[in-house]
Amino acid sequence: MADVISSLSNQNKQFLSDKVLLFTESVIREMTRQALVYGAVNLAQGFPDFAAPAEIKAAARAAIDGDVNQYAITWGAKNLRNAIARQMGLWQGISVDPEKEITVCCGSTEAMISALLAVCNAGDEVVIFEPFYENYGPDSVLSGARPRFVKLRPPDSDGGEWTFDEKELRAAFHKSTKAVILNTPNNPTGKVFTRTELELIRDLCVEFDVLAITDEIYEHILYDGTEHISMASLEGMRERTVTINGMSKTYSVTGWRVGWAVGPEKITNAIRKVHDFLTVGAPAPLQEAGAVALSLPAEYYERLAEGYRVRRDRLLPALTLAGFRCFLPRGAYYVMTDISAFGFEDDVAFTKYLVKEIGVAAVPGSSFYRDARDGARQVRFAFCKKLDTLDAAAEKLGKLRGW
Ligand SMILES: Cc1ncc(COP(=O)(O)O)c(C=O)c1O
Repeated sequence: MADVISSLSNQNKQFLSDKVLLFTESVIREMTRQALVYGAVNLAQGFPDFAAPAEIKAAARAAIDGDVNQYAITWGAKNLRNAIARQMGLWQGISVDPEKEITVCCGSTEAMISALLAVCNAGDEVVIFEPFYENYGPDSVLSGARPRFVKLRPPDSDGGEWTFDEKELRAAFHKSTKAVILNTPNNPTGKVFTRTELELIRDLCVEFDVLAITDEIYEHILYDGTEHISMASLEGMRERTVTINGMSKTYSVTGWRVGWAVGPEKITNAIRKVHDFLTVGAPAPLQEAGAVALSLPAEYYERLAEGYRVRRDRLLPALTLAGFRCFLPRGAYYVMTDISAFGFEDDVAFTKYLVKEIGVAAVPGSSFYRDARDGARQVRFAFCKKLDTLDAAAEKLGKLRGW
């Protein structure tokens, strides 16, 4: 009998790798499917429901009409790499060699996994701030690295900042630490890491000879006068940082799948090898449009941030009125909330109720934590939506309070 049971359980795993059994499908993307099933307003997944800028769409059409329809150079079209290097110099004062230090990938998602696959050996540890963008968990598993989490703690008072404990961070670094993954401005918390915090992380990276892999995809979405500081711009970090970014969020084209990794030549060579055999290259015409996008004037970025500030300030009061406690985001386009007031068993039960009975899709907080219990009282909403969409959500959320 024991033999039969063991062969049955082996059959369940038949053909599957051990790695793939260690993580689930994305909860965020699942919530989008749920929103479609129940016809709910989708404040779950972080994609805009409004139009992408006309000049970028025109540039993509022109590239296709101009027959830029074959493979681009594996590590990225020259025009786009030049534009990325120019922008990093302009915005962060970081000088980058577009020939040797940039790899254009299929979204920053591919840039992150390529970077991890390029640098991690089995058993290496990767420090991750928690709550974290959910991809970093599976990314670590797939690259053979062991994640080590450091808590970001929510503010005690309204309008306060998410913080981490310096001692806890130091304790996470040791001999087998290969990299720290940083995401600023941060998804899901909206935290924008300060210079002092980044310097603290920098000092540990230098002391323990650790690489920083920084996801800066929300670099232009900032509120209340906060400033984005690139890790690579800090003294001592240029040679030990891989900066990840992309078109998705800054230019409202999440479906285009164009992102990039920027790092020192030796690491870039390794990333390019992984990227080449994973995907060969990102969409060629959209890379040409990317070069046009990255040449937009400074006012474009001001309008982008202001547009999101207006959306943030439209959604948060509605959430507060409905009974959520909101942790004010300083950057990115999400708000993490506390759902204690609703008395539900946990975040998953609550988001199920929300999508099915109230008609609003959100993401359960537990999907941003290793231990589901840590996120059991939290739910994340995305506000990268038209004001009409946010108003429709607000009206539905009113039902939570019976109005
Ligand atoms: C922090 C963070 N990194 C990366 C991504 C995915 O970016 P891309 O569309 O460039 O793959 C997201 C999308 O939500 C994100 O929030």
